[in-house]
Amino acid sequence: MEARPVKYSRTTITELMIPSYANFGGKIHGGILLSLMDKVAYACASKHAGTYCVTVSVDKVGFLQPVEVGELVSLKASVNYVGRTSLMVGIRVESQNIKTGEMKHTNSCYFTMVAKGDDNQPMEVPPLVLENEEDIKRFIEAMRVRKIKEKMHDEMNDAKSAVEVAHAKKILKNERCIIPSQH
Ligand SMILES: CC(C)(COP(=O)(O)OP(=O)(O)OC[C@H]1O[C@@H](n2cnc3c(N)ncnc32)[C@H](O)[C@@H]1OP(=O)(O)O)[C@@H](O)C(=O)NCCC(=O)NCCS
Repeated sequence: MEARPVKYSRTTITELMIPSYANFGGKIHGGILLSLMDKVAYACASKHAGTYCVTVSVDKVGFLQPVEVGELVSLKASVNYVGRTSLMVGIRVESQNIKTGEMKHTNSCYFTMVAKGDDNQPMEVPPLVLENEEDIKRFIEAMRVRKIKEKMHDEMNDAKSAVEVAHAKKILKNERCIIPSQH
């Protein structure tokens, strides 16, 4: 299987924010941006893999600044890391005011995608060629993120199984919630 450089699958989607994308506050719905992120992650991962990919998990999505109707949103995606069948795609989202040219960085996030074969089973992906320091840095970063996620996943499962309803009143005494007295 021939290795592919990061630049082979680097993908940018630019989309105009039209009024139907807005929420009641007049800003762009977070869900519209999430859908665009999923699209660009899919395009980028599938290009590298040479097959269809599915989204497995999404990390570090935050909305740092609101996006306005009329702005041009660009989503830049690249494969930061490949495992055996999975790929981690890093996405940087920027929004540009068309009149002033001003650019704002609205967020960066990671999408984990898995390549699927015709039998719908996870399929091996080509190795990644790291051609410069930035590519190497991102690959190592992604390895660390993957490790942190695995640890967090285990800790979250432990946290769930360790919930003690019997001590709820004590645990929740400084929280903004009320437990009616029959409990
Ligand atoms: C993701 C999926 C393929 C994993 O299937 P599986 O039988 O557990 O396969 P594996 O255990 O071989 O895992 C395949 C890869 O996914 C990765 N993976 C599995 N669960 C993961 C998770 N929660 N987060 C990140 N990576 C994950 C594994 O690490 C492995 O990567 P690697 O081959 O690079 O080491 C399967 O759960 C699936 O098809 N999910 C539905 C995805 C989908 O349809 N998404 C669209 C949105 S609805």
